[in-house]
Amino acid sequence: MKTLTISQTRPLWVTSDWHLFHENILKHDKRPFSTVEEMNQKIFENLSIIQAGSILLYGGDFVWGKKEMKYNFACEAKKKIEDMGIEVKFFRGNHDNSLAKYGFVFENNAVDEGVIIEYGDLKFFFVHKLTINSVVKYSQKGIHYFFHGHNHGNKHRDEEKELYDPLNFSETLLKECNGVMPMVCDVSCNIWDYKAVRVLDLLKISSAFHNSAFSKDV
Ligand SMILES: [Fe+2]
Repeated sequence: MKTLTISQTRPLWVTSDWHLFHENILKHDKRPFSTVEEMNQKIFENLSIIQAGSILLYGGDFVWGKKEMKYNFACEAKKKIEDMGIEVKFFRGNHDNSLAKYGFVFENNAVDEGVIIEYGDLKFFFVHKLTINSVVKYSQKGIHYFFHGHNHGNKHRDEEKELYDPLNFSETLLKECNGVMPMVCDVSCNIWDYKAVRVLDLLKISSAFHNSAFSKDV
C-alpha cells in the first residue's frame, strides 16, 4: 500500500468526478448546466478558491472523449490547473483507463486501490471507488477517514450502502473495523457545488455529520 506524505505547510484540497466534456453526465447527475462547455468553465472558475501553492488530490473520472483526443483534453486541463499554481495528484477512476495507456500519470493502479495520505497527524484513505473490504482492512490499520469519488452522491450503490447508513452498519462490521465507525465522505464535485473542498474543512463536516448520524445507534 502506497503512502503519500504531504507537508502540513501546504493547503490540501480534494475533489473528484468532474467528467469534463461528458454530455450525458449533465443528465445523469442533473447538473445545472446547459452545455459541457458551461460546466467545464464553472469548474475551472471555482478553482480560484484554491490558493497558489496548494495540493489538490483528484479522485478520478477526469475527462470524457475518445483515445488521443481524450488524452489531449486531459493534458490541457491538467496544465490549466498547474498554471494556477496548484499541484494536482491524480487518482484513477473507472473512466480513466485509456488515459493511463497514453501515459497520463496516476498515483494508483486500479480504481479501488487507494493511497494512505499522511498530512501532519491526520491519516486518511483516498480512492476513486471505496469498498467495504478497503474500509475494514484500513480501519484495522488505524485509518478511520475515507474520502472517495465514483458515487456522485448516490449513497446506495452496490455494497457501499452500509457505509452511509447506520441502520445497515452491522455489529459484525463494526467489530471488524476495530469498533470504530469509519468516517466516509464522497467528494464527487456535483455534491460540493462543483468546488474542491479543503481537507481540514471536510474533517469538520464529516465529524459533525458522523456524530449526528450515528449518535442514536452506536
Ligand atoms: Fe464518475
